[in-house]
Amino acid sequence: MLEQNSMEKIVSLAKRRGFIFQSSEIYGGLNSFYDYGPLGVELKNNIKKAWWQAMVYQHSNIVGLDSAILMHPKIWEASGHIANFTDPLVDCKKCKKRFRADHLLEAAGIKPDLGTMKNPPKELKECLECGGQLTEVRQFNLMFKTFMGPVEDAGSVVYLRPETAQGIYVNFQNVMESMRLKLPFGIAQIGKAFRNEITPGNFTFRTREFEQMEMQYFVHPSQADEVFEKFKEARLQWYIDLGIKKENLRFREHEKDELAHYAKRAVDVEYNTPFGWKELEGIHNRGDWDLSRHSEFSGQDLRCVDVGSGEKFFPYIIETSAGADRATLMFLLDAYQEIEGGRTTTTESTKEMETILSFSPKIAPVKIAVLPLSKKPELNEVSKKVLDSLQSDYFCLYDETQSIGRRYRRQDEIGTLYCVTIDFETLEDQAVTVRDRNTMQQERIAIDQLKDYFKLKLS
Ligand code: GAP
Repeated sequence: MLEQNSMEKIVSLAKRRGFIFQSSEIYGGLNSFYDYGPLGVELKNNIKKAWWQAMVYQHSNIVGLDSAILMHPKIWEASGHIANFTDPLVDCKKCKKRFRADHLLEAAGIKPDLGTMKNPPKELKECLECGGQLTEVRQFNLMFKTFMGPVEDAGSVVYLRPETAQGIYVNFQNVMESMRLKLPFGIAQIGKAFRNEITPGNFTFRTREFEQMEMQYFVHPSQADEVFEKFKEARLQWYIDLGIKKENLRFREHEKDELAHYAKRAVDVEYNTPFGWKELEGIHNRGDWDLSRHSEFSGQDLRCVDVGSGEKFFPYIIETSAGADRATLMFLLDAYQEIEGGRTTTTESTKEMETILSFSPKIAPVKIAVLPLSKKPELNEVSKKVLDSLQSDYFCLYDETQSIGRRYRRQDEIGTLYCVTIDFETLEDQAVTVRDRNTMQQERIAIDQLKDYFKLKLS
């Protein structure tokens, strides 16, 4: 597990190097909202691209969708979110702080069985911050509300979706018919979701606005268990293939009494964060809950027909639900490395602590940095030409200030895969030096071979 203070280091590096900024910072910030800077947006986009590739392009029977964030309010009645999408809340009467009752119990090592708890323990009576009296536990709905149109009354209430999944279920028939699909098939979607979390925190781990990468797989009920196992394994492997250390990942099966209102079974992929093992992604067997409820509430028959028996049935849904922001944070944490004294100690400047983000090539935000050895115009001209030839294929950076050792350090700190150095010899031999981030090995490559070289390395 990473040390506790590595979160502070990640937050600081994320801001300093343009990965993640506090939202609305010049106005004092908006709690639990974040903006992705130039490197953060590259990193997150690469993660989303890798997910889309693994889901949509690598399965002939999984297709994509991009549904609206605001949808008919009846959808949230049917889905059960209006009645059940709540967290237990207590307020301190003295300091006015708000807590999640289940989190207070968990922190004290007590199973948060609030429904059956007759005599609440002291953790639910006394504020842990000021000792003040806590209110009774009440259920707080996490959905953000807004109003559609000019009149703000009960009839114009709409909700910001708390999960992208419902946009898929209500389009189940549209997608199946327009794409002439037959069971089993899946629909994948990446998009924003919103939850008015009572206690957001741990940087981008739990926020009120976040992005989900969800895939809903529709199957005959008899195949649901087998498909669940397949996706469970595949989803863990996806993180490993993209560079997360195996020992930092594990599965956690939900107990019956902690299952969400829609779930028959749920397994989390957890990550070993500096603040404990935490959910990174959920794999859920949602049974026929969603399609049967949408049939009931919309009056549209969403059942399928079994070709053999002619029997009508609601497909079961196996869902894989990952957070793009949570995944981005875990990839940052997992890639973070500090080397006391540095890997190279040839100059004073490089004897300091070295930080490396060892992202895998697929997700590294910056693939190549172009570094002219000096600012002299003749080197500048050839360096810009090298940059031009590479940047249409890869996200590249150009850096010509300070010593080459410092510049390598700066690139290692953001996880740049290769540094291309242009020196005075380049003017003679039309070749450059390519340095590999991980091995620090250097190779001399002819400029006219550079595109092919990187094609091979980065394909
Ligand atoms: N459709 C099912 C669903 O939404 P969930 O377990 O509530 O299931 C799935 O959420 C994933 O979405 C989580 O594993 C997490 O990665 C991400 N997620 C949920 N709430 C989040 C929050 N407040 N901030 C950031 N990510 C969140």
